[in-house]
Amino acid sequence: MLKISSIDVFYGKAQALWDVSLTVGEKEIVTLIGANAAGKTTVLTTISGLIHPASGSVEFLGQRIDKMPPYRIVELGISQVREGGGGFLDMSVQENLEMGSYVSKLWKQKKETLELVYQIFPVLKERAWQLVRTLSGGERQMLAIGRSIMSKPKMFLFDEPSYGLAPLVIAETFRVIQELRNQGSTILLVEQNVRRAMQIADRAYVLENGRIVIEGESKELMQNEHIRKAYLGI
Ligand SMILES: Nc1ncnc2c1ncn2[C@@H]1O[C@H](COP(=O)(O)OP(=O)(O)O)[C@@H](O)[C@H]1O
Ligand SMILES: [Mg+2]
Repeated sequence: MLKISSIDVFYGKAQALWDVSLTVGEKEIVTLIGANAAGKTTVLTTISGLIHPASGSVEFLGQRIDKMPPYRIVELGISQVREGGGGFLDMSVQENLEMGSYVSKLWKQKKETLELVYQIFPVLKERAWQLVRTLSGGERQMLAIGRSIMSKPKMFLFDEPSYGLAPLVIAETFRVIQELRNQGSTILLVEQNVRRAMQIADRAYVLENGRIVIEGESKELMQNEHIRKAYLGI
């Protein structure tokens, strides 16, 4: 579904990614793990079209997307759930969710999709008319995922969805990611919570200093010596 081939990405003169290749198949959960500043977010923002690679290519459903503007990529069905949630702080939860289906063809199904989001996250229904500013970190993260669901993407890009959340909310977030996959979505999951991410992912890639150093089936990688030492603390 998604195929990244040998991309090099720069911020000005500083190179952030070297020769990165990665694929995500339909209905797969693939996780991209790595330490702080390894380049994980850069991979996601490159897929979303906010940065363009200096070389290499990004294909989605057989189509080159690496020179497309971000809104076109959203229209093709890729939705990035941002680090920290984002959103319009002085608007209500429901207004924020509705913004997720601003694309006209989705607007008609808005009510149904909203019900689906409220079913997945009952707490958002309870707080539908509350301003986003007044939500907790966990609730904002759920709202960010909810807004993404409203845009009915084919593929979700999650950027550290468990970051800074309480353990119960983390468990809930991982449950929702699995639920999305069970409903037919495809997921690229960036996480520092390596153990949990590997448990739900089919395959994993390890990024170190802007380079993919290990890739494979999650089950196998959980036995990998380097991964056990560096990322699982075993
Ligand atoms: N907007 C930016 N401008 C310049 N450098 C950046 C920018 N965003 C990230 N970087 C640099 O690129 C590298 C990778 O960052 P990032 O992709 O955010 O890593 P991660 O998400 O794995 O923590 C880091 O060295 C970071 O300082
Ligand atoms: Mg990051």
